[in-house]
Amino acid sequence: MKNRDRRRVYKSVSIMFFVAVVALTVVQRGSINMGAPFALERQTRMHASEGVAPRGGLEEKMSTYLGMKGFWNAGRPRPKARLTTAEPRVTENQIRGTWDVTSSNCSANLNLSGQAWFNGLEKSFKQFMLYRHCRFFPMLLNHPEKCTGDIYLLMVVKSVATQYDRREVIRKTWGKERLVDGKRIKTLFLLGKPSSEVERANHQKLVEYEDYIFGDIIQWDFLDTFFNLTLKETHFLKWFHTYCPSVRYVFKGDDDVFVSVENIFEFLESSSREKNLFVGDVIFKAKPIRKKDNKYYIPLALYDKTYYPPYAGGGGFLMDGTLVRRLHGAADTLELYPIDDVFLGMCLEVLQVTPVKHNAFKTFGLVKNKKSKMNREPCFFKNMIVVHKLLPSDLMHMWNLVNTDLVCSQKMELL
Ligand SMILES: *[C@@H]1O[C@H](CO)[C@@H](O)[C@H](O)[C@H]1NC(C)=O
Ligand SMILES: *[C@@H]1O[C@H](CO)[C@@H](O)[C@H](O)[C@H]1NC(C)=O
Ligand SMILES: *[C@@H]1O[C@H](CO)[C@@H](O)[C@H](O)[C@H]1NC(C)=O
Repeated sequence: MKNRDRRRVYKSVSIMFFVAVVALTVVQRGSINMGAPFALERQTRMHASEGVAPRGGLEEKMSTYLGMKGFWNAGRPRPKARLTTAEPRVTENQIRGTWDVTSSNCSANLNLSGQAWFNGLEKSFKQFMLYRHCRFFPMLLNHPEKCTGDIYLLMVVKSVATQYDRREVIRKTWGKERLVDGKRIKTLFLLGKPSSEVERANHQKLVEYEDYIFGDIIQWDFLDTFFNLTLKETHFLKWFHTYCPSVRYVFKGDDDVFVSVENIFEFLESSSREKNLFVGDVIFKAKPIRKKDNKYYIPLALYDKTYYPPYAGGGGFLMDGTLVRRLHGAADTLELYPIDDVFLGMCLEVLQVTPVKHNAFKTFGLVKNKKSKMNREPCFFKNMIVVHKLLPSDLMHMWNLVNTDLVCSQKMELL
């Protein structure tokens, strides 16, 4: 080949390569870009004006348009949630529509003090055991109207009085109440009472004022302590059962996580309707921690089995509304357990529902090394559903990065 011919070949090859890269980038951006929901909104409206029922068509359009159907399922092979054959014996003795607890008159269980195993417990566990039977508390702030109308996704956030800055950022980012493709998103914060006297004096009025402005705080009359998180769980289940008969899906999480609402929608649209949907950062065969200095230490006297049932990290998980209502019944059959996410795993076990693990839920950190650059890489966040754990300012910053015209070369799979 002559030199000139060779150059011509190089030239055309590099042009083709360039065109291929550009095309790929465009395709990739199309599939994860914020533009997608708007395009879909247009399609929905078109369908509506054509007199075609938008739902089925939309689902199809969405998956072809986004090329997504495979992606969210592409993670690890997931164990299929089993359908319950035998319903648990759960009684429904509650009238829908009112919170029936008006007094928290519940005294310590003094029966325990004579028993050797009890006297051998650490102080915090003694406190837990003494009040373990106290399961029903009145509400200090309630919003019975929160679930009226058609709600597609209810975002439920565990918070405490002092963390108003986290709530503020969540309201501006993933917790913003809005309508996406005609589907309503609502947000709710779950609070107990501040655990210290000083905080109660300083913060309770502020919380009430905050709620007066935003109308999104529900609060119960129990102390916001680590072991009382399970009370927050059971009270939420009861509350949801009472007031939310028609909410379709529930996302429940911490107030220090990053959440991609777009990806939740894509996930829900691309997965088949599953009445027992419960998906998150699920751990199978976790062992109770027996080291006393660990935050999650559990004495044998409280739990003596080798493994916990499968459970999802409490940082953030997604459930079908129908399942949430059944979980309320299951919770009533169990004694309270001091770790809230493990407790919910126990409730799922009662219902014989296996939670599903998905790689887009990172409630135990994105990567193990906290200093790793990956923890600040917006293209990773763009592909996640939940990432634990961010300061309010970092959350705001990351949200802005992810929701601008971020160009990511491809959908990155982690690990
Ligand atoms: C609280 O309970 C105790 C015993 O359980 C009872 O003696 C007392 O009258 C109750 N107080 C109220 C206000 O219900
Ligand atoms: C304490 O023991 C008595 C008698 O055995 C029992 O009736 C009562 O329910 C026990 N209290 C609690 C809180 O378990
Ligand atoms: C949970 O809250 C109740 C009611 O405020 C309180 O009596 C109890 O001590 C708390 N339990 C723990 C373990 O902090």
